[in-house]
Amino acid sequence: MSSVEEVDLAHRIAVMGQRAKRVLEDNDRGSYTVPTAKLYPFQWNWDSAFVALGWAEVDRERAWLEIETLLSAQWPSGMVPHIVFWTREDTYFPGPDTWRAEHGPQPSSGISQPPVLASVLRQLTLEHPHSSDGGVAGDKARVAAVFDALNRWHQWWHTARDPKGLGVIAISHPWESGRDNLPDWDIPAAAIDASGIGPYERRDTELVDASMRPHKHDYDRYLALVKFGADQGWDDAAIAAGNEFWVVDPGITAILLRAERDLLKLGLWLGRDADELASISLRIERMEGGYDRMWNPEAGTYTSIDLRSGDYASTGTSASFLAAYAGVTERTSALVDELSAWSEHCPFLVPSFDPRDSRFEPNRYWRGPVWAMVNYMISTGLAEVGEGEWADRIRLSTREMMLQSGFPESFSPTTGESVGGLHFAWTAAIWLSWLNRM
Ligand code: DGY
Repeated sequence: MSSVEEVDLAHRIAVMGQRAKRVLEDNDRGSYTVPTAKLYPFQWNWDSAFVALGWAEVDRERAWLEIETLLSAQWPSGMVPHIVFWTREDTYFPGPDTWRAEHGPQPSSGISQPPVLASVLRQLTLEHPHSSDGGVAGDKARVAAVFDALNRWHQWWHTARDPKGLGVIAISHPWESGRDNLPDWDIPAAAIDASGIGPYERRDTELVDASMRPHKHDYDRYLALVKFGADQGWDDAAIAAGNEFWVVDPGITAILLRAERDLLKLGLWLGRDADELASISLRIERMEGGYDRMWNPEAGTYTSIDLRSGDYASTGTSASFLAAYAGVTERTSALVDELSAWSEHCPFLVPSFDPRDSRFEPNRYWRGPVWAMVNYMISTGLAEVGEGEWADRIRLSTREMMLQSGFPESFSPTTGESVGGLHFAWTAAIWLSWLNRM
């Protein structure tokens, strides 16, 4: 790169930093951040966790508030909901009346979302301790105040979503994975009887091009599962026993295993009780023992498993590459070969679904588009296991898409263009915490 090009790039990066900050400010609702106005007008669980990483670069106090607000909505069972309805808004469906989930201190959805929060907290404190606003001692006190909530949430995943102790985690709803319309869920959801859901009006397709969103057929099944959960009073045992959709998710499993390791590190830092730390270690051991159940020799990668039929998905997804992030290294070279094969089919990494598969759709939500926070996790994991070249390639690809298209919900892996909602908080947060510093 010539020095003129370098100066130009440095300038564009500085401008992007200012724009990213603006996205967070525009989506700030005081004590929580909406993913983007109108399309998602409440607090979303894993969005908020990633957004806290971005806030930490702008206003560390605000980052803490984001985290504490989310955890304040925890249910007595330990579950931390995927949506917290802090206000009434009519631009989103389904709202609290459909969920019928008043089990926590605030109306919410009745399911959870990928538990990245402990890993975010570790990054905010142990990896980047700041000396301002109370410094390390202040951080320690705040981590201590939320440690029990995180520990109870992690335990909830094991009790509620892995009641048989398989060491891998099931989801009860495609929304729980955070990767709503992944082709993996098509077959497990196909037989769900949606005849009882009644008429409903979607709001998402009024705000985003319908070609980028899930089909009505998918929504019918999403709502049938919400109805089933609500009819059970969101009872975890009843859902584990009777929910038609019960699928092991490599995404949740990898993210929880990483989060458990990070929780243990935080617990050691805090000097928590030895028995409490031992129970986290046992959960980690169980997951380490279970992880390889997801290895699918025919697909040559980790895949989801429909626990009702016993069938494995036929294809990998971007979550297959999260094994390194989870600290599972046995299959790294096979996964890197797989990533290399994917990269020959699309110029921008990492598509959410295998680009060689006929169900791949580069612009439809989780059936192809690239998501910045998934890239951040994959790249972090690959860097940690010595795959620095791939880690850098993913990071640079993410940066290139943002330089080209700004901060949308996701990106087309074939063109790098924006997909879905615009002015999106977690995409901006990933720029601030990860790409700004390149
Ligand atoms: C939606 O409504 O599209 C969300 O992803 C559900 O969490």
